[in-house]
Formats: sequence, C-alpha cells, structure tokens
Amino acid sequence: MTRQILVTSALPYANGHIHLGHLVEYIQTDIFVRFQRLRGHKVAYMCADDTHGTAIMIRAEKEGRQPEQLIAEMSDAHQRDFAAFDISFDHYGSTNSEANRNVAHSIWAKLKERGLVAQRAVPRLFDEQKEMFLADRFVKGMCPKCRAPDQYGDACEACGATYPATELIDPRSIFTDSKPVLKDSQQSFVTLAPLQQTLTAWTQDSGALQEEVANYLKGHFLDKPLQDWDVSRPAPYFGFEIPDQPGNYWYVWFDAPIGYIASTVEWCAKAGGDADDWWRNEDAEVVHFLGKDITYFHTLFWPAMLHAAGYCLPKRVHIHGFLKVNGEKMSKSRGTFVNASRYLDFLEPGWLRYYYASKLGPKIDDLDFQSEEFVGKVNSDLVGRVVNLASRSAKFVQDVGLSETYPEDSGLFRRGAEAGEAIAAAYEACDFREAMRRVMTLADDANEFVERAAPWKLRKDPDKAAELQDCCTVVLNLFHQIMIYLTPVLPELSAKAGALLGSDMDQWSASQEPLSGREVRKFTHMMARVEAAKVEEMFTPEAPEPTSPTIDKEPLADEITIDDFLRVDLRVAEVLEASHVDGADKLLQLTLGLGGDVRRNVFAGIKSVYEPAQLVGKMVLYVANLKPRKMKFGVSEGMVAAAGTDGEIYLMSPDIGAKPGQRLH
Ligand code: 2FM
Ligand code: ZN
Repeated sequence: MTRQILVTSALPYANGHIHLGHLVEYIQTDIFVRFQRLRGHKVAYMCADDTHGTAIMIRAEKEGRQPEQLIAEMSDAHQRDFAAFDISFDHYGSTNSEANRNVAHSIWAKLKERGLVAQRAVPRLFDEQKEMFLADRFVKGMCPKCRAPDQYGDACEACGATYPATELIDPRSIFTDSKPVLKDSQQSFVTLAPLQQTLTAWTQDSGALQEEVANYLKGHFLDKPLQDWDVSRPAPYFGFEIPDQPGNYWYVWFDAPIGYIASTVEWCAKAGGDADDWWRNEDAEVVHFLGKDITYFHTLFWPAMLHAAGYCLPKRVHIHGFLKVNGEKMSKSRGTFVNASRYLDFLEPGWLRYYYASKLGPKIDDLDFQSEEFVGKVNSDLVGRVVNLASRSAKFVQDVGLSETYPEDSGLFRRGAEAGEAIAAAYEACDFREAMRRVMTLADDANEFVERAAPWKLRKDPDKAAELQDCCTVVLNLFHQIMIYLTPVLPELSAKAGALLGSDMDQWSASQEPLSGREVRKFTHMMARVEAAKVEEMFTPEAPEPTSPTIDKEPLADEITIDDFLRVDLRVAEVLEASHVDGADKLLQLTLGLGGDVRRNVFAGIKSVYEPAQLVGKMVLYVANLKPRKMKFGVSEGMVAAAGTDGEIYLMSPDIGAKPGQRLH
C-alpha cells in the first residue's frame, strides 16, 4: 500500500551557518526520505529557516543591518550547504513568510476559541531609561547556577543552565547598561492542562516516540499538571505581532514549528495539492526528526497546538543525540566546530553521509566522529568492498555486456534479494547502522565470490570468455543490488552505478531481479579514497582572520551640503568639572564651559577610558544644539564628540590655541 508521509527536519536558526552537528540530522532525515521514495511511497520533505527572536536581532544589529537582510542571506547560505550534501527537500521556506503568519493567526484563533489562551500580568525586567521591557537576550548578568559573569537572560553559555531572566544575578540592560527594574507586563499563555490526557495518551501509547523519550516525558512533565506556556514577548522583538495584543509578539518557539505547516502550504501552492491532505488526514503520516535538546517543544507544546487547532498528531517523532568529535564536545578553539562549507573544502559529502549512516542507531545516543574510524570506514567499506566490485569486473565486459541469461551463482543473488526486507526494516526503524552492517555483509559475500572466480585470471584464457562474462555478470549484479540498497545513503554513487549499467536506481524492487543481456558502459572513476591528512587538516583550528579596518565596517556616509553640516553647532568647550555617576557603569558627568558664564551639563559614555581627574581642564568638541535628553541621572544638554566603540572611545580635542565657545566651521 502506498503511504503518504510528510517528513521534517528541525528548522535551523538563521543566526548561524550549518555545521557538522546540524548535518547529523539533515543527513539522517534525507536517508529516511530517500528510502521511503525508493519504496514507492508519496513523500513530502519540508523544511525552512527559523528566523525570529532576539538572537537574530542582536546579530543583525552587530552587523549594522536589518534582520530581513541577514535572514535572506543566511537562507541562501543554508540552502547552498544542504544542496552540496544532497539533502532533497521538496520545499524550503522561512518562518518570516506570509504563509507562516497566516497559519499562526489561524492556530491562535483556534486556541482562543477553545479557551486555551489566558492573559496574566507577569513581572518582567524593564529598562527605565529606554522605557521598555527587556526580552531575555537583552539582559546580561551573572548565571544564577554557576555564577559565570556576562551571561544572557535565558541560558548560561558556561554551564548550559536555562533560567528566567529575572533570576540573573546583578542584571544589566544591554542597551543602557542600567539595572532593570521589575514591572508587570500583560502576557499571553497557552494553557496545557486541559490537553494533559491527550498528550499523555499520545506520548505513552501511540508508538510515536522512542521508549526513552516517552519515559522521560512521563517522569519529568506528565507526572504533574502541565504548566501554562508563556508565548508572548514584549516589543522590541523580531517576529509576528500578536493580532489582538499590539506591542506583543509571539515567542519564536510559537511560530517556529508552525513553519512546518506553512512550508507545506507554500509547496502545495507551487506543486499542487492541499496542505490539509497532509496535516488533517489520519491516513497521512507526519514524521519529525530533531535533536534531543528540543524534545519538549515537539512532544508537548507542538502536539498540543496541533491537536487544539484540529490537525492530526505526528505519527512519529524521531529524536537523535548530539555530535562529538574524537570523544569531545565540538569546540571552536580546538578546531572541531566545523561548518559544512569548511568540510567541503577538504572532504567529499558522500563520505560523511555514509559514515553517519554507519553510526546512527534507533536510540538517542550521541554520535562520535572519530577521525581514524571515518577514514577506515570510507576506504575499506565503500572503496574497498563496494566500488571495488565494479572496478574489478566492469572493464572485462565492456565490449560484450552482461550475459543473456543470469548465470548460476550458488544462490548469491537470491540471498541478497531476501536480505532486502531486513535491510528495509532497519531503514524504517532509523537503524541505519544495522542497515549498513547488513549491506556490508552482502558486499563481503560478493567479494569472496570475486576472489574465488578471479576474473583477472579468466581473461587471460581465450577459451574462458563465456565464463568471464558470466562471472562479471554475477559480480555486477551483486554490485547493482548493493547499490540499490545504498541509494538512500549515497545518491551520487548510486547514480554512477546506474549510468554504468543503464539502471534508473529509483525503485527498491529493482534489487529483486537480476539484470541480463544489456550493455555495460565504460567504467569511470566512482569514488576516491580519503586521505587521513585531509581530515586532520580540517580539524586544525584556523588562524584568526585579520580584523577588517574600521572603514570597511562603517563605510562613509552619504553626501550632505555645507548647509546641512552647519546646522550642527559644534563648539570648543572646556571641561570644568568631571565626576562618576552613581549607578552608571559607562557614564561620566561633565560640566563644560563655553566661555563667560555659559555652562552645560553633559553625560558622556567614556568611563571605560577616562578618569574624571584627567579630564578637568581639557578642551573638547561639544555638539551644542542637540535637543537635551532626559536620563535617569539628570538632563544631558548635548554631547561631546568622540570616536571609537564601546570600551574604546576617545574624545576629540582641538589644537592648542582654540578658545572655549569658538564655533567649528
Ligand atoms: O533548535 C533549533 O535550532 C530551532 N531553530 C529548531 C526549530 S524546529 C521547529 F520547531 F521550528
Ligand atoms: Zn552557568
């Protein structure tokens, strides 16, 4: 029976490039997808960039551009990387799309209609100078668990702890460096308790989850009433504004998984069909692949939203572990945090696809990339045991082709065909390691046959031409059978095998019938061996890039007229008094003299470089006609001219002879 399967990989964040860790997931999902297609099922593989939230705002701001620009560029880069690794999405969207906004609106309306949205005041951190609530990433402070300094308000990069921003020790606003106060904010919550029974049944009894995941959810969440889920964030936030709550946005994790549906909507608009036929059809199967760190979003919140909005629950959520490199966590400083594009500078994508496949079991264990093992597996399994079958036989039958009838082979091909169901079952169970083990056993049997039949000896005896053709027909058929089984893992190698033997390689059933009486094309190189030195070089930390000159980071501004310039009243001023400001980490208070009795009070963010005492008597440049600004500590009347960035800021001073009050022109 033809199944209808919609498969997803977790949507990668748009704030970083694809790396070897991500690829554990995309490669395994792609193997599953290609396997299902090969079995003749109707498959839709959906993905998108996850674009919202504060991490993206901060990165865009640091790079001096709009988030929209950043996410467009990142989406191109992600898609280039995925294509290079043969990841075969049917559609790749973005969570910052109209389709996603529409689906998010409709799910929200359903949640409200079913009484599952509650509003309550929540104390949140508020920056009094900026007069705004601070999203988690807009506050930094000391980690409440390990006391590491300078950590964001959602998670500690030093110890990995997650916590509410209100628990940070000595929190500071990243905008003003002031200490935020607690202030009530009206927030929206999705109430999950009414869905507890549904979620318990789905997680525990439907077979959708791996056993250890089901047990984890039972022990950690479902054993007590489910907590409400805070899904709103106050402005400023890069995301979708909640329709009935101006100034509040959906938290990135609300609209991220909705991107799976929105991608399907976009794909159906392009390729035909109806997204509901995939998402609201009990005969269709939704299968999610994701990493263990985002388990609860996909096994509690997401199914709750789906169920409440009338979608079917996923038939399967397959969770995997993290990637380690040579036994350790990936690390930038050790050079083991390798981006997809860097990998491609050194090594072939097919090698990684096979290596990961040979290591991935059905459980959520971490996967350890071991350099020596990688080299060994690729060289001995793929080149030595599989490709060698073709390279040791194809050249002897290039002129005559395969025998007219498939010869006697002592049951080898039949046994290979019979092994197909166990291999398929292993693929279905995401036990790719077991599938590869079984395929390599078949390759061993085939190699034993080649050794015994020794075609290189047969070809020396003209009387044995028919025997040689039969022998090579068997070997090439075993090679073809093995390559059909490996097609989900190695699509490129499989296409080369198909070209050699004139086979489409697009149906699993082609592994069950031998090929005969057909042409064999000229054998061309199929796969190179890995050089260990290349792997080592890839994992060697790169020398830090030279920092680009300031002028590249901040290009010259657009042209203005002299009149435009003269609107700014720049004056020479003398610093008469300078002092620290209580409670301000970056500011100094300056009293400037402009000649006569004219004085101005200015707060300047120069504390990291100057001591008050060294400033008194110094001549500075003063922007005199700037509108006074009310700050927490008092009114700042204009500003002093300075160059540089935070932490490295230098005052501009006139040359000796300039007098207070003189205008710059
Ligand atoms: O953890 C992550 O990288 C998220 N961007 C995954 C989102 S998956 C889905 F829910 F959108
Ligand atoms: Zn910590």
